[in-house]
Amino acid sequence: MNTGIRIQAQHLHQFIEALFRHAGSEAEEASRVADHLVAANLSGHDSHGAGMIPSYINSLALGYLQLNQHAKVVRDAGAIVTVDGNAAFGQVAALEAINMGIEKAKQFGIAAVALHNAHHIGRIGYWAEQCAAAGFISIHFVNVPGDPMVAPFRGTDSRFGTNPFCVVFPRKDKDPLLLDFATSAIAFGKTRVAWHKGQQVPEGCLIDSQGAPTTDPAVMQTPPLGALLTFAQHKGYALATMCEILGGALSGGKTTHKETLHGSVDAIFNGMTTIILNPEMFGTPEMEKETDAFINWVKSSPQAADEPILVPGEWEATNRAIRRAEGIPLDNGSWQAICEAALKAGMPQEELEQFRLLVH
Ligand SMILES: NC(=O)c1ccc[n+]([C@@H]2O[C@H](COP(=O)([O-])OP(=O)(O)OC[C@H]3O[C@@H](n4cnc5c(N)ncnc54)[C@H](O)[C@@H]3O)[C@@H](O)[C@H]2O)c1
Repeated sequence: MNTGIRIQAQHLHQFIEALFRHAGSEAEEASRVADHLVAANLSGHDSHGAGMIPSYINSLALGYLQLNQHAKVVRDAGAIVTVDGNAAFGQVAALEAINMGIEKAKQFGIAAVALHNAHHIGRIGYWAEQCAAAGFISIHFVNVPGDPMVAPFRGTDSRFGTNPFCVVFPRKDKDPLLLDFATSAIAFGKTRVAWHKGQQVPEGCLIDSQGAPTTDPAVMQTPPLGALLTFAQHKGYALATMCEILGGALSGGKTTHKETLHGSVDAIFNGMTTIILNPEMFGTPEMEKETDAFINWVKSSPQAADEPILVPGEWEATNRAIRRAEGIPLDNGSWQAICEAALKAGMPQEELEQFRLLVH
């Protein structure tokens, strides 16, 4: 049985900040990356939390991820802004791009921000939450150019990324409604977490290198590689296609095809086209009442199982409350890989040992 460790959010934040300072990030950048990764772990999405660190350190060593870079406006066309992520940390480039979009939405009521060439922007819900915190609805189409992992419906090998889709709807004095998922049946990071834990993944998520169904996450970690399947068969595939085109082609970035394959699993880049709407501009005074009425209605359906009926975003909010109180769990394999990455980033062994004392 592969158990793990637990670490309080503020300690994990300090550790990640220190790690990226050693890697060469300025203080502000290290802090923004730590904010994002810890928030992903708190929300329950361990696939996009601290477990990404080894991959980021590898990407940096290979010359893909560029430190201390910022988003650069390529075109400003009123309500629409196109932004080059400059291979910067996605946690910095997306923050800056979404801030630009929010400013535009304040001005115009509706805005679109198209970000391309950002290094991994992580959990997309984080960017939606940034919009919701400012009072806005947002819709995000994301692609992962050059890094195919998902097979098309009726295909037998990987042709595109896990292309997440995300929508947020803010609510006064309540958590926003948040849809945020990969268009693959499961996120790639979840195969990594399952592999580290020695677990199988659910049926219907993976095929092996021969195109045969499997539940073994090793097919996504060690050659010969298999592929993820899209969720809901042709529907997930269709949505993934729109994420590829809007997130990649429309944003001024790349889509995945023969000429853009980069061959490195650690060089994760994202394109993201985001539409931001000011709900107040719709002039619909019943909006909140109707939203609450719908939520109460669906939640009053007789439960099929022991677990409660949730609305989108509630799973994350519940995890946040539990993990803030009890600490963030990390499996041993992930924690070991993160510690090795810290040493690789230049953290002295003695400093690492001090952080190791904080886990329980
Ligand atoms: N940057 C990238 O390239 C990239 C690629 C893929 C995925 N991701 C991120 O990975 C994360 C994980 O993706 P995933 O596909 O594993 O997500 P997932 O399968 O865990 O689905 C999460 C969504 O389902 C909702 N949900 C969960 N349980 C629910 C329930 N019982 N009732 C109603 N709604 C429920 C959540 O609130 C959330 O909206 C996401 O944050 C995504 O943005 C990023």
